[in-house]
Order: sequence, then structure tokens, then C-alpha cells
Amino acid sequence: MVHSHTNVLAIANQKGGVGKTTTALNLGAALVILGKKTLVMDLDPHASATIHLAYYPENITISVLDIFLREEVDWDFLNSVIKRDKRHFFDFIPGSIKLSIVESELKEKPGKGLILKNVIAKLKEQYEYIILDCPPNFGIILINALVASTLTVIPIQAEFLALHGLKLTFDTIRMLNKVLSHAIQYKALATMFDQRVGACKRVVEVLKQNLKDRFFETIISIDTKFREASAKGEIIYNLYPNSRGAKQYLQLAREIEKMGK
Ligand SMILES: Nc1ncnc2c1ncn2[C@@H]1O[C@H](COP(=O)(O)OP(=O)(O)OP(=O)(O)O)[C@@H](O)[C@H]1O
Ligand SMILES: [Mg+2]
Repeated sequence: MVHSHTNVLAIANQKGGVGKTTTALNLGAALVILGKKTLVMDLDPHASATIHLAYYPENITISVLDIFLREEVDWDFLNSVIKRDKRHFFDFIPGSIKLSIVESELKEKPGKGLILKNVIAKLKEQYEYIILDCPPNFGIILINALVASTLTVIPIQAEFLALHGLKLTFDTIRMLNKVLSHAIQYKALATMFDQRVGACKRVVEVLKQNLKDRFFETIISIDTKFREASAKGEIIYNLYPNSRGAKQYLQLAREIEKMGK
């Protein structure tokens, strides 16, 4: 089955520790719960998403690194790299702790920013949603992800300092938009929101006023269940399906689903 309107969601923010990986995994699972064929790809050389799902990057022989370095990517290869484990809800392409070598390996390669976009053109045959967990640092991998995305989701930790870190990410998007034929679409997501803290509420107000419809209505609260699930190598929906965090990522999945209509 060919999905003509596959949504490619790059989860990106050049500030570290803002909830990118948590968003990639839980939004991915929530979309599967809504009945969507979903693939999550770990594009971070720290391989946090891979480790979170209890895969040991040292034991993985074929990974997202091969996607970047192979000349020819066909379905035989893709079937060997995609992990399909019902416990994780979504299909998954594991990361590699060697992924940063693509920066030097591909330096001279023409079209090096379009590698992922070309592979995703093939993956679209099987998936309605493809979610890219991006690294926090700027480089070829992040560019590939932003260029391949139909929507860049920017998780923003709802605290005052987070607003300063945002500039880097917006500079990257603006820089790419100068050379791309289509502007990168983005939407920001408030994460780790603590409703007891006045400063948190003010940050959300500032974001809403500035970003308007480029700010998700859904807000992700701070919830210790995310850390507990990740420590156990599980997705929150397996362990705490009724937690606030689980419900909020489902709400986000519905909001994203509606955008496509
Ligand atoms: N809503 C939340 N409530 C509580 N803890 C959270 C929440 N979201 C994420 N965390 C925790 O915060 C830490 C950082 O989150 P995460 O790894 O998702 O961020 P990241 O942006 O991917 O980080 P990096 O830039 O290092 O890749 C993790 O320990 C995660 O479990
Ligand atoms: Mg991460």
C-alpha cells in the first residue's frame, strides 16, 4: 500500500534534554494506538532512543548508519534494518554510536543533505507517519532530517532559559529555508510543564503569543513516569497507560492527525 500523504515529523531542538527522544517515542506509540502505521528512526549518535527501547547499540550490526553510507537502499536492506517489536508499538530503525562519522565520510558527497529524503521516499510506501529523533548538535544529520520533514516538531522545555536556546534552532531553519524550494514547516511543543510554577505558565504564554498557530495546543506536563518507563526499557503505554503523560501524548497525536485533514 502506498501512502501518498506520509507525514515525516522531525523532532528537533538544538538545546539538549528538552524532551526530543521522549516525544519521538511516545508520540510514535500514540500514533500506533490511533491506528497509524508508524516508524521511528533514531538519528542521534548518543542512541538514546535505541537504549531506551533496551537495545544495546554495541550489539547492533546494522543501523541508521548504513542508511547514510549505502549507495543503494532497497526493501531487502530496509527489512533487515527495521525492528518490528509489538512491545514498542511502532517499527523502529536503531541508531548508531558511530553515526557522527557521516560528517567526515560525506563531506565531499554531492547531494549529501538529501540522503534521508530519498530513503524516506521509499519508506513512504509502508508508513503513514515517520518520526525522526534528531541529535541536539548541528550537522549533516540534522540538515537531512529537517529537509526530509513535512513538519518539524520543536519540543521546548517550559522554563525561562529554554527561550534563549531556541534561537539556534530558528537560525538553522531560516538558513535552510534560504536554499530550499519549500520552507520548512515547524510547530513548537511545550514539554515538562509544571503548573505549580508561575514561571512555567509565563513561558507558555510568551510562546503562545509569539508563535500563535505554530504552537501546539497540547502541553506535555512534567511526569516522573517517563523516567521510570525509560529506566525499565519500556514505553509509557505498556506500564502506565493511564498516566497524565500517556494521555497528553495521545492528545498530541490527535492534534497532529487533525492537521493533516
Ligand atoms: N514530560 C516529562 N516529564 C518528566 N521528565 C521528562 C519529560 N520529558 C522528558 N523527561 C526526562 O528528561 C530527560 C531528557 O529528556 P529527553 O531524553 O527526551 O530529551 P532530549 O531532548 O532527547 O535530550 P538530548 O538532547 O540529550 O537528546 C530524560 O531523562 C527524560 O526521561
Ligand atoms: Mg534525545
